[in-house]
Amino acid sequence: MDTLISILGSCLPCFPDLSSPYVTIKNVKYRIIKLLGEGGFSYVYLVKSSVNDAQYAMKKIRCPFGSNDETYKNSIKEIKNYHRFLKFGTPYIIQSIEEIIISEVDGSKTVYILLPYFEKSLQDIINNLVMNDDKMPEEDILKIFIGICRGLKVMHNYKTTTSQSAQSVPNSIADDVHSSTSADEDGLLLPPQGPASDDEDEENGDAPPSIPTELSQLIPFAHRDIKPANVMISAEGLPVLVDLGSCSKARIKIRNRQQALTLQDFAQEHCTLPYRAPELLDVVKNSEVTEKTDIWSLGCLLYACCFGYSPFEKLELEQGANISLAISQGKYIMPKNNGGYSSELMDIINQCLKLNPDKRPTVDQLLETTIELSRNSDL
Ligand SMILES: *[C@@H]1O[C@H](CO)[C@@H](O)[C@H](O)[C@H]1NC(C)=O
Repeated sequence: MDTLISILGSCLPCFPDLSSPYVTIKNVKYRIIKLLGEGGFSYVYLVKSSVNDAQYAMKKIRCPFGSNDETYKNSIKEIKNYHRFLKFGTPYIIQSIEEIIISEVDGSKTVYILLPYFEKSLQDIINNLVMNDDKMPEEDILKIFIGICRGLKVMHNYKTTTSQSAQSVPNSIADDVHSSTSADEDGLLLPPQGPASDDEDEENGDAPPSIPTELSQLIPFAHRDIKPANVMISAEGLPVLVDLGSCSKARIKIRNRQQALTLQDFAQEHCTLPYRAPELLDVVKNSEVTEKTDIWSLGCLLYACCFGYSPFEKLELEQGANISLAISQGKYIMPKNNGGYSSELMDIINQCLKLNPDKRPTVDQLLETTIELSRNSDL
């Protein structure tokens, strides 16, 4: 009930009928059915459109300090991410449907993001298997994993062209996006001298006229919170990567201790521990963190599809291991007889869980290997 009251408080004119709270976005009323989840300043509701009765998920983010709010800047970044991969037409990454930003009289802001609603996640499927002491067939695991890799490939191989930058920001939030911060919104807000200040930003900078607009530039993005709970299953049965709140430029050079601590804090807040790469657990200076953090998480996810838990969670559950320590030592166990799965599949997990990020495969290599394996298991 608390959360409903907070909606009412923040958006009173939207609720002439208090018995049935709704939010109006672009002249369409969305009736709130129930709270799906919450965290920090954000809430996700199941809503129903009054136009066609379709169900959506609506994320509401409260930003008490308006435009100066870190939460606000992050929500703008998140919105940009929901639009960023649109042009690639991939079904494997979630896209937003609408968003509005409401400025309150007290200077605070509330961001609403309308998203597709999915009934179940890969974590739900895994939970069910664990509960029923059941297993997912290898070919099903491969099918889901290949879809996830296809989505991730779009992020890791993200290219931008200067001519496309204007389209990537929705009109309704363009003003807010441009006024919100001068720092690099697509990267992490690291302290001065960080990568943020010397990275080119395709959306902030006006490109010099001498650069041809078709020139594209590879700017890998990383999801940073790959885990079964962030993979939803669409009505068509395809895996969809969701929660783009921590998705940002993948390659971060760590030049000093302060930057290392800032990234470590970011990881602590955004990258779920059992799936977190060792280089994010203990960030060292004079290093570079890359999209290989996602590859580690993929290895954990694949293991969880096979054995019900992240490998480090499992070690904690079975041997009372210190999960942080196990991750930083890359210590985990494969069940006897690989739980009936092929040694090729186990090998993919092992490749992803290399302590040295450079030794892990790229997402393209992973796709190639897994597609090959699924072809062979079809025979
Ligand atoms: C686990 O290990 C880390 C160091 O790797 C240490 O900081 C932490 O205190 C340990 N936690 C427990 C519960 O022992």
